[in-house]
Amino acid sequence: MTLKKSASLALMALAVSFFIGCSSKEDRDKYDQWYGSGSKAREEAALVKLQSDRKVAAEQATAAAAEKAAAPAAAPAAPGDTSAAAAPAAPKRKPVPADVSALLNKHACFACHQAYDKVIGPAYSEVAKKKYTPDQIVELVHNPKPEHWPGYPPMAPLPHVPKADIVVIANWINSL
Ligand code: HEC
Repeated sequence: MTLKKSASLALMALAVSFFIGCSSKEDRDKYDQWYGSGSKAREEAALVKLQSDRKVAAEQATAAAAEKAAAPAAAPAAPGDTSAAAAPAAPKRKPVPADVSALLNKHACFACHQAYDKVIGPAYSEVAKKKYTPDQIVELVHNPKPEHWPGYPPMAPLPHVPKADIVVIANWINSL
């Protein structure tokens, strides 16, 4: 009984020592890989990975630029943008008159709308294509109809904006 017990203990000890033996060899390899002669290979591998990551990033940037060039209407053109893609749209872009601009600022419409570019809401030049009357625009600012603009989040109703202000904005929208 005791002999059997001590024999199995010895067997376990042997197994454990094998295990330790194996793992310490692995540890040595690991140590070697990080600090010893293997570190050079590791550094080289890391450098290759870094270079390939940079290449992927550069390719993505070119792809994004190509996409932007293909869809000039969606790309907000920077002032003074002379790229060929923006050129056809440029002559149509008129500056916002000061009085209208002041109203759009005052009522924070600019936070979501620009004259010619989609922001959160549609560009006013797109709204102009709907050919609303000023009264209809007043109604739509006070009671937006999100179903008019699929793919956009709903505009919050802005009942506090005075009708007279919206009429000025509406006449300008229809001039775009
Ligand atoms: C928080 C963002 C936000 C603000 C602020 C905002 N809008 Fe909008 N607007 C939207 C979105 C989004 C849409 C499209 C979805 C919709 O109509 O609900 C929209 C749509 C519109 C439309 C088109 C309505 C239609 O049914 O075709 C007009 C006109 C408009 N906005 C005018 C204004 C004016 C004027 C102001 C300022 C008084 C203003 N918006 C402020 C987000 C905004």
